[in-house]
Order: sequence, then structure tokens, then C-alpha cells
Amino acid sequence: MNHAWFVTGTDTNVGKTLVSCALLHALRARGLSAVGMKPVASGCHSTADGMRHSDAEALTAASSVSLEYAAVNPYALRAATAPHLAAQAEGVTISIDTITKTFVQLQARAEAVVVEGVGGWIVPIDATHTMADVAARLRLPVVLVVGIRLGCLNHALLTAAAIEHAGCRLAGWVANHLSNDADGALEGYVAALRERLAAPLLGEIPYMDEAHTDPAVAARCLSVETLLD
Ligand SMILES: Nc1ncnc2c1ncn2[C@@H]1O[C@H](COP(=O)(O)OP(=O)(O)O)[C@@H](O)[C@H]1O
Ligand SMILES: [Mg+2]
Repeated sequence: MNHAWFVTGTDTNVGKTLVSCALLHALRARGLSAVGMKPVASGCHSTADGMRHSDAEALTAASSVSLEYAAVNPYALRAATAPHLAAQAEGVTISIDTITKTFVQLQARAEAVVVEGVGGWIVPIDATHTMADVAARLRLPVVLVVGIRLGCLNHALLTAAAIEHAGCRLAGWVANHLSNDADGALEGYVAALRERLAAPLLGEIPYMDEAHTDPAVAARCLSVETLLD
């Protein structure tokens, strides 16, 4: 049985990569072979082997199957800006057909595939398409990473509504703490979303020491059983 999910977030920089890598670790701990995919990445660095992105590298490090770079990240764009602008700057057209083919090939290589989006849910990839179209075409259940901070209720509820509007299914969400919540002041946000989001909370990841955000540690905060049911 093949499993796959699309990981989106309430914004850029809210922990999608950390959670995607943690999901890969949790799936592997359940005995599944698991591989990460980053279909579109902007803000790549140039290497002797070509353009590389730290998200794709982190996903590969968390995967149980090692593959050539382009199989994980088919669109590696240089400019650290919105993907459609980065693509435009290089004269690249992002093709959902190409992403779909790459994804299908990855599915043949592992029992589980975790696809990390870029930015938030409805980020444009060209003049007419967005990453939501990619998730819809791949027919993937969606995992929403909520960066717990002021404003996240609006962002999380808007994203959940847009996921439904795109005809996708929100399979679960993760509360990711982006700051130290020593006095528990941010727990009210998590509780508010528990009451308002129809999908299950897969786990709550505490704020970790910035230098030691370890996806294997974060994996222990996630319940993937809910996703595999
Ligand atoms: N729970 C956490 N505790 C501490 N730092 C975090 C946590 N989650 C994310 N970060 C940090 O925030 C930044 C953005 O996380 P990342 O997973 O790259 O987000 P995204 O993929 O959504 O852009 C990274 O520097 C990461 O280490
Ligand atoms: Mg990322």
C-alpha cells in the first residue's frame, strides 16, 4: 500500500520542512520506507553539481531511500523570491505534468512519500496555477503546519477553507511552536484550533533550541497512526 501526503503551512518559515522531515522519521519508525519530495524550491544555492536547496537536502537526509537530486526537487530555482517570479527570472515554466511524473516515479521507490509545498497553500507557480493545483492534481491528503503565533488562527482557518475549496482533504494538522511558550500563553491558540478545525491534531512540537531543531526528536511528538488509518 502506498501512502503520500502534501505538507503545507500557514506561511513560509513556519516549520514545514521540520514537520516533513519529522513525518519521514515517524513513518520509518513504523517500518515504512519513506522519501521526501520538494517539487518547487526557490532560493537555491549553486554547487558544482547544479542548484541545490536546503529543504530538499534536509528531506533527503530524513528519507530512507537515496535518489538523485532532480528526483526529489525537479524545480530548483535560484532567486529567493515567490516561485513564479524565480521561474520567470530564469525563463523556466513550472509544469504540473512534470511534477506529477516525478512524483509517480518516487511513489514506485518508497512506501510513503511526503511532499513539501513552498510558502503557504495558494502560492502561485505561474500566471494561472498555484501550489494548491499541484496538491489537487497529485490527489494528496494535506497536512497543515500551523506556526503557533499571533495571527495563526486566521491563517490556519483561511488555509483549511482554501484546502476544502480546492477539493482536497485536510488529513491533519500540526501545532508547531515558533517561540518559547514558558507561561503557556500560546496554548489558547492550539485549543481554539482544536475546536475549529475538523481534522485531527497530529501533534504539538515544542519550541526547540534553534541550533538543535532535530526532526527525529520532533517525530516523537507526532502520531502518524491517524494518517495511516
Ligand atoms: N519547533 C521549532 N523550534 C525551534 N525552531 C523551529 C521550530 N520549527 C521551525 N523552527 C525553525 O524555523 C525556521 C523555519 O522552519 P522550516 O521548517 O524551514 O519552515 P518552512 O519549511 O515552513 O519554511 C528554521 O530555522 C527552523 O529551524
Ligand atoms: Mg521549507
